[in-house]
Amino acid sequence: MSSSWDVPICRAERDAMSRPRNDTFLRALLREPTPYTPIWIMRQAGRYLPEYNETRARAGSFLALCRNPDLATEVTLQPLARFALDAAIVFSDILTIPDAMGLGLHFVEGEGPKFERPLREEWEIKNLFVPDPTEHLRYVLDAVSQVRKALAGEIPLIGFSGSPFTLACYMVEGRSGSDFTTLKKMLYERPDLLHRILQINTQAVIAYLNAQIEAGAQALMVFDTWGGMLSAHAYDAFSLCYLHQVTAALTRVHDGEQIPVILFTKGGGLWLERIADTGCNAIGLDWTIDIGAARQRVGARAALQGNLDPAVMLTTPEAIRHEAAHVLNCFGRGHGHVFNLGHGVSQYTPPENVQTLIDAVHELSASYHVC
Ligand code: CP3
Repeated sequence: MSSSWDVPICRAERDAMSRPRNDTFLRALLREPTPYTPIWIMRQAGRYLPEYNETRARAGSFLALCRNPDLATEVTLQPLARFALDAAIVFSDILTIPDAMGLGLHFVEGEGPKFERPLREEWEIKNLFVPDPTEHLRYVLDAVSQVRKALAGEIPLIGFSGSPFTLACYMVEGRSGSDFTTLKKMLYERPDLLHRILQINTQAVIAYLNAQIEAGAQALMVFDTWGGMLSAHAYDAFSLCYLHQVTAALTRVHDGEQIPVILFTKGGGLWLERIADTGCNAIGLDWTIDIGAARQRVGARAALQGNLDPAVMLTTPEAIRHEAAHVLNCFGRGHGHVFNLGHGVSQYTPPENVQTLIDAVHELSASYHVC
């Protein structure tokens, strides 16, 4: 007797359907048991790796690298060739969305991102549109598919986006700024205009992240890098409220597998309970909060990701092991922890220090997972 279940499936199809062979990262996000604490590192593909700098030089610029799916795949895989990381993150940038909206992104060496046409006038804001990711952000989706294929079911792939609020910061300010004064003035003087931008961004982020899932992303992370500069009530109204909408509209099960969502508000340590209320699976923590205290507050509502101070990575193997052990000890026994830095790895980090950290976390964490 034959049924559709008997049809043999090739390995690529099986990989596309099942959990990766190393699924510790996905399990930790879902607060399921794992034999050790999985680790990945924000900006794991980046300027601290000489091979990244070589590929970037070949691409001509950072943006050219992002826009070329072959090269974006190449740099995504570079840290995985060196280190036993438990997850991959597609190489791209959060600013692809405002670029797709026509704001004219470019990077000035040593100064970071800049927009040629920041949003200042009311008519510019009224004309803002939600880009179709399958058209305007095709290159990112192609990179996601290519990386997923190249991973061959070994480890899971993370897709990502900026939060509606953090994207708005760059769109209004037009550049990285330490205080985002233009944005804050708009928030207090013309909240209606900022809300209009945030509504468009929310729809753009939802469409973009769901398209990344379709293309092969197995977990999602939303970077709310600047939410922490807001007052408590402004955070609720201008960032968290839109994170709620994003979390509610994301595809949470795809091909029979859960797609966990990580929300990271840098500087959001005071608001963890409210972040958990969004229904995200995990909360990213910066290094300013004790992860044990965070765990007590969040309880069973979400897993935690973090939170080693990235500056530790500039020091010695002894200090790295010591500080990694401290984070593991603060979290304590049990599941639901993904190890990471509290923010992106510095370009001045010696690559061998990343090796030291990964070895330390894998080795030292096992005893916290024994039943
Ligand atoms: O984590 C990864 O490996 C994936 C790649 C990734 C990049 N940017 C590559 C990148 C991710 C997840 C981001 C997110 C991102 N981009 C954020 C949120 C996270 C955070 O860091 O807070 C933000 C705010 C941006 C915007 C952005 N992109 C800035 C402010 C800069 C300049 C900062 C700097 O370090 O110079 C970038 C450039 C950028 N994005 C680089 C990389 C590897 C360095 C660019 C280069 O090669 O010159």
